Amino acid sequence: MRRLLAASVLAGLALATAAAAQTMSPIAIIPRPVSLTPAHGAFTLTARTTIWADRADSAVARGFARDIAPSTGYDLPVRIGVGASGNRIIFKRAARRDTTLGPEGYRLDVRPGVVTVTSSAPAGAFYAVQSLRQLLPAAIFRGAVVPDQRWTAPAVSITDRPRFAWRGMHLDVSRHFMPKEFVKKYIDLLALHKMNVFHWHLTDDQGWRIQILKYPRLTEVGAWRAHTLVGRPHGDSTQDVFDAKPHGGFYTQDDIREVVEYAKERFITVVPEIEMPGHSQAAIAAYPGLGNFGETMPVWDRWGVSKHILNPSDTTIGFMEDVLTEVMGLFPSTFIHTGGDEADKTEWKASPRAQAKIRALGLAPDDPANPHDVRAENELQGWFTNQIDAFLTAHGRRLVGWDEILDGGLAPRAVVMSWRGIDGGIAAARAGHDVVMAPGNYTYFDHYQSVNQAAEPLAIGGYLPIDSVYAYDPVPPQLEPQYAIHVLGAQGQVWTEYIPDPKQAEYMAFPREAALAEVLWTPRDEKNFADFMTRLPADLARLQVLDVNYRR
Ligand code: ACM
Repeated sequence: MRRLLAASVLAGLALATAAAAQTMSPIAIIPRPVSLTPAHGAFTLTARTTIWADRADSAVARGFARDIAPSTGYDLPVRIGVGASGNRIIFKRAARRDTTLGPEGYRLDVRPGVVTVTSSAPAGAFYAVQSLRQLLPAAIFRGAVVPDQRWTAPAVSITDRPRFAWRGMHLDVSRHFMPKEFVKKYIDLLALHKMNVFHWHLTDDQGWRIQILKYPRLTEVGAWRAHTLVGRPHGDSTQDVFDAKPHGGFYTQDDIREVVEYAKERFITVVPEIEMPGHSQAAIAAYPGLGNFGETMPVWDRWGVSKHILNPSDTTIGFMEDVLTEVMGLFPSTFIHTGGDEADKTEWKASPRAQAKIRALGLAPDDPANPHDVRAENELQGWFTNQIDAFLTAHGRRLVGWDEILDGGLAPRAVVMSWRGIDGGIAAARAGHDVVMAPGNYTYFDHYQSVNQAAEPLAIGGYLPIDSVYAYDPVPPQLEPQYAIHVLGAQGQVWTEYIPDPKQAEYMAFPREAALAEVLWTPRDEKNFADFMTRLPADLARLQVLDVNYRR
């Protein structure tokens, strides 16, 4: 099997090399379109090309003109209407009765002299543009004029639409802060592969990264840690080695608005994550009253799961509702992620206040003979989550949480993100919840890309090669069809304990993100890893031009 795979990869590379030697770029679109038929001839973009669009698509058309201006040097006009002559690109609406494309689908017809994009909505037009950019030479992505380049795209007819509605990538900016400019670059790269959700993991034990006006200490204190562990934890924590550099940073609300707008122009929804009640040590460091025993503590300087979690009081719920009020003001996303994973129950078990809350809520007590029984505390987390869920729901939003939120009983509109394998996703879908699949074995891009770990930069562990990502199917085979409709899609996770900077984030995310994009867009029956590998070299050439430090 491995041997066969390797042979087909080599064949793919040979094909791509042969194609690269020709003047025209190979047809190598990722994710693979639903249907693609090559035609005769080619379209060549020139300084006299005119772009025509109906009014609704004019922003997408102008975005295309803006994107290709630096490399081509062309300042192509965008006119409203349908041009009848001359070298032109036309964006038009599908007939109203044509429901085949859906809100994100498109038809793209490239012919000598004319490119026609047909869609039912601007998102489809935007995805047609991504395919068109991938039909042009990779140099189209350059940031300065490329001399002597002919901007030719092979003639094709494409009909295309996505398989899943949630095509996501996550980025943890808490463990290591990632500057706004990189976040925008990441969003550009997701858009190139027709992803449509950016899950922004903004808070955790090791750093709070979003400015909250009502609670300034969240970033004044919570965004900074004294130092960072060097390498892995030693085991004997007294032997751990730290760098001597404070680490931190945060996004102002203006920064956030900028990123959200940037993503929106690229048809990407930004789903913010504010962790609660666990993964909250940075918040407790800023406001010790959020903790269980009122003690002061630093923003955490270790990896793993801090034992310090939010106290389950009405005051704390109110604090988090204040935070979420500002978050909702910044993020138009229907979906607001409130974490919920790995909330260590040790403190709640020891806290008289938490225990009084358990009694006041009438939750069934833990078995007194079993010190490890935390059923009551899990139900208390369920109460916490449901308070927040009711608040978000009252504001027209939907709570998303990691699959632990299932443990304490869950409101029906809440969305479950299945990370501890797929069982949580299956159980949630059967219970009628919408689900986003994010299982560690297939979607954790912080895992190694080679079995030879010594040859790779330090990572958290695991092994997730690109063919495993590609083989993943977000709909578990054992999930009955009537529940499979609850699988909104899936997403790739980039946790950054061992990812100190943007270049390393690129190394871990790419090209595995390209494989996941195809998992999420292309019909299951059209997926073919050998074929993907024939297209990948052209995609890597694009990433090269875009200065992406992808893994070779
Ligand atoms: C997680 O990886 N703790 C969601």
